Amino acid sequence: MQKFYGKLAGYGKALPRKVVTNEELAQRIDTSDEWITERTGIKQRHVVSEDEQCSTLATQAAREALAKAGIDGADLDLIIVATSSPDYLTPPVSSQVQHELGATKAGAFVMVVGCTGFVSALITADQFIKTGAYKNILVVGVEVITRMVNWEDRNTCVLFGDGAAAVVLKAVEFETGIKSHLMGSDGSGWEHILHPSGGTKNPPTHETLSAGEQYLTMNGREVFKFATGTIGKALHQVTTDAGIGLDDIDLFIPHQANARIIEYAAKSVNMPEHKVFINVNRYGNTSAASVPIAITEAFDQGRLKEGDTLALVAFGSGLTWAACVLTV
Ligand code: COA
Repeated sequence: MQKFYGKLAGYGKALPRKVVTNEELAQRIDTSDEWITERTGIKQRHVVSEDEQCSTLATQAAREALAKAGIDGADLDLIIVATSSPDYLTPPVSSQVQHELGATKAGAFVMVVGCTGFVSALITADQFIKTGAYKNILVVGVEVITRMVNWEDRNTCVLFGDGAAAVVLKAVEFETGIKSHLMGSDGSGWEHILHPSGGTKNPPTHETLSAGEQYLTMNGREVFKFATGTIGKALHQVTTDAGIGLDDIDLFIPHQANARIIEYAAKSVNMPEHKVFINVNRYGNTSAASVPIAITEAFDQGRLKEGDTLALVAFGSGLTWAACVLTV
């Protein structure tokens, strides 16, 4: 029987023009560059302006990925957009992206899995390639999360940033792409990262708005514990399932939420520093966009090259996590 593999054929990113530094935040709220840097490693983040939206960032990143892959929107069979901050709750932003790209024969859907979304979407796309159903799939991770945080709440607003990145998976007949994957969820922690109002349980009213329930809330300590425990375990599992050791990994890209979380997790599995990609200092936590932005930068900086073995681990609201090992 003919076998297909999902080759990572193109990648691209799009970031809002405006950059907000820790020093600028410290002029507006009771925080400091020292506090943010020491606890998170973040120095600055990109923040959307009025003319920048989830759909426009996603489309811009997608165009770059398509160009690198040498295909047009019209060649796409499927578009998956991972995001928790779409332009609208309805329609799915994936259809806006599809329209902009002229991807007339593509199916399109959104995956809402918080910061885990891009890795979950990549694993999902790979299944459609492996079954032989589709040849060209666009996977986008995008967030405009700064419009969902309370800019007066220092517990959350300093942590996040906006951005988008996309990859194209192309069906090929030589062995490459995802070798192993896992997806997990522990719903007992659903309240730890929460948007209290805006969904159907608590639709926005004057009362919810004046209570600030439209903003993201987070139990930072619980999320920290969950993340540091999960990353190492997930990494071990996917490398074992791929039949390789941690030494065989050329580059490890974890979700970029907090440099302290990444360093702690990498140390717990003895992953040497030079194999761990960190760019949270420049972008903050861009949620579903963080892993694909890092993939794009790793290629651009020459830290990732064709044939390398890459490990991805993401974690986020739900609580959820997803990981995979792939040849790029
Ligand atoms: N600037 C200054 N002080 C701040 C602050 C800020 N931006 N944010 C919180 N503080 C204060 C708190 O109010 C608290 O003060 P108190 O002791 O007087 O009450 C103090 O700093 C310590 O807060 P704490 O929550 O214990 O800090 P921490 O060391 O746990 O770090 C996080 C907080 C959010 C950085 C950390 O918990 C974290 O990174 N969690 C994971 C978050 C994450 O990654 N989320 C996304 C997952 S996808």
